Amino acid sequence: MLVLGIETSCDETAVALYDSEQGLLGDCLYSQITMHAEYGGVVPELAARDHIRKLVPLIRELLEDSQLKLSDINGVAYTRGPGLAGALLVGASMGQALAMGLSVPAVGVHHMEGHLMAPMLEQNRPQFPFIALLVSGGHTLLADVAGVGQYSILGESLDDAVGEAFDKTAKLLGLSYPGGPSVSKEAELGQAGRFKFPRPMTDRPGLDFSFSGLKTFTMTTAHKNKQEGQELDDQTRADIALAFQDAATDTLVIKARRALKETGHTELVIAGGVGANKSLRSKLAAMAEQENIKVFFPRPEFCTDNGAMIAYVGCLRLQAGESEGTAVAVKPRWKISELKTPGENT
Ligand code: KG4
Ligand code: ZN
Repeated sequence: MLVLGIETSCDETAVALYDSEQGLLGDCLYSQITMHAEYGGVVPELAARDHIRKLVPLIRELLEDSQLKLSDINGVAYTRGPGLAGALLVGASMGQALAMGLSVPAVGVHHMEGHLMAPMLEQNRPQFPFIALLVSGGHTLLADVAGVGQYSILGESLDDAVGEAFDKTAKLLGLSYPGGPSVSKEAELGQAGRFKFPRPMTDRPGLDFSFSGLKTFTMTTAHKNKQEGQELDDQTRADIALAFQDAATDTLVIKARRALKETGHTELVIAGGVGANKSLRSKLAAMAEQENIKVFFPRPEFCTDNGAMIAYVGCLRLQAGESEGTAVAVKPRWKISELKTPGENT
């Protein structure tokens, strides 16, 4: 079964073709980052309008690159939520229209399930059950994954998502959007040990997270270390970026280790945009070696938003007989724990 996946939940227009027998046949992405950078964050209305402009040319490019025709497609998957309502509606309308025109089924995919299953696109795949650490701009959670659609949430952020904390920290330091990659780049110039940030909620039991305090810590540290009316000096900016990144990534590693210990699982999967962070990757790899567990990272372009993860999950669900009616319905808020095993709802 050849499935077209469409992702438009936020600021990336992404499409991919996944075949149940041959695997991923192609993927294309257009990032709106430069358009939103001017505003320091995603402007929802601009995001939706740009998805309208880019989606059709991107699908054409995907088909051309993969040397396939629209009529080869046997199913369409689009991101149904969570995400920005207007942006989601663009992908959902296109997905439904294409499916109707081609007389094939369409299915709406949960964006975070896409992220969770992204490591399955790699040759070296994890085995169920495993622990997933899902770290994106909108979510931070640890889940016990028993199988596709079987997610029990062990812990999540009580306030800001870790990606959001990276983005806000970047803004406070005057770094460019999106914050994650720019804080990480800045941190490479930092000197370790000058500032020590807290590791929130690690001194008590449990697997929940809280990242809003770290952002405040960045703000007060920056404030204390600059002269009245002046910008931060370059070294101080880099030292703060490093202290923030160390605190955020240490916190994630401490909680992931705890989740593995509590469940006895021996495989850990990293998903979501913050999973592209080099410092997080090396700390998790070191922890995995110490604890004798296996850690799976999707390649960085499958950590951040992409069409391949949507096509893959869509293919699993369509093959199990799931499909939507013809209504264009999106779910900007949608809890991952509401999902069921593919086919269970049919
Ligand atoms: O998964 P994603 O692409 O979109 C959402 O579903 O949210 O994640 C985006 C988030 C942003 O907050 C971005 O700053 C962060 O992932 N991010 C990073 C890195 N690359 C992206 N955070 C830290 N280090 C990175 N290298
Ligand atoms: Zn995402």
